[in-house]
Amino acid sequence: MELKRNIGILTGGGDCPGLNAAIRATTKAAIRIGWEVVGIRDGWEGLLFNRTELLDRVKTSGIIDRGGTILGASRTSPLRIQNGSQHVFDTFGQLGLDALVVLGGEGTLAVASRFFEMGLPVVGIPKTIDNDVRETDYSIGFQTAVQIATDALDRLRSTAESHHRVMILEVMGRRTGWIATYAGMANGAEAILIPEIPVNGERLDQLCKMLETRKGRGVNFSIIVVAEGVELEGETIFQPNLGKDKKDGPDRLGGVGQALAGLIERRTELPTRVSSLGYIQRGGTPVAYDRSLATAFGVEAIELIGAKKYGRMATLKGNRITSVPLEKVAGGIKVVDLSIYKDASVFFG
Ligand code: F6P
Repeated sequence: MELKRNIGILTGGGDCPGLNAAIRATTKAAIRIGWEVVGIRDGWEGLLFNRTELLDRVKTSGIIDRGGTILGASRTSPLRIQNGSQHVFDTFGQLGLDALVVLGGEGTLAVASRFFEMGLPVVGIPKTIDNDVRETDYSIGFQTAVQIATDALDRLRSTAESHHRVMILEVMGRRTGWIATYAGMANGAEAILIPEIPVNGERLDQLCKMLETRKGRGVNFSIIVVAEGVELEGETIFQPNLGKDKKDGPDRLGGVGQALAGLIERRTELPTRVSSLGYIQRGGTPVAYDRSLATAFGVEAIELIGAKKYGRMATLKGNRITSVPLEKVAGGIKVVDLSIYKDASVFFG
């Protein structure tokens, strides 16, 4: 019989489809072996301010297909708050917890890694639509965002063809272009622009030349997908007046699609239109893949706790669920594998 344990679970950073599937799996796998689960509300804030709720089978039934997180999320880091670390340990003790499951992206998992180094028994689960968490092939939320972006690109293709236009779709991805690469490949986009490859002079010329060559071949429409963090002629584009608003999250990127459209129209006179998906990529029901991945990660997290293998994160390697030390994940991001990007680029133009 497993030794009874009380575990906490929190969802930190940006939300994504699939979080509730992971909360459900973690909770049910724990309850099945007689453990108790405490939901920590709004990411690390729940441990800073003791905002929690008991999770049971009823609360985690019927949520596998629900977007968002029933626990709420925040980007708050206790490491940036005076006595924040002490508050986390105090609440952890007051709740009588034996371990903590942290669902997060690179930033939240880096905080989890730091708390493990300070002695907190924590395990991690990777989630972010950006798919930029190291040491795992995919993170929860990514495949759903790719599907949403691909559906949008498919729709834009039909209207681009009808009106003989260049259609640009701006997708999320502040430091990496995983969503743009996979959705662009799935749609057969004529160009995929990612933060890993700055779009400056020469690449801009190549892009415009490709568009004009297509028109010369009588194919007078094109689809371009661009990640919000792409550097365009040496500049990263922020939303007007909000770019430096650091109060509740990272700098507000947005507008690279419009800026690119202006450059294309001025250089080629090809009619160009822009759509931006923004937070639509983060909302709504997860696709089946993310539900299954989240479920498998939740079970792995409970197995790690059962074996007292703290300081590790559940990962997907090929088709295997395994785990790696959190320290290997913290402090860096997984950029797009350019061999995958090269596969997509074969079809540019
Ligand atoms: O990290 C995921 C993400 O959606 C990024 O793609 C995006 O730039 C950022 O979060 C937006 O942050 P916030 O939700 O805090 O505005």
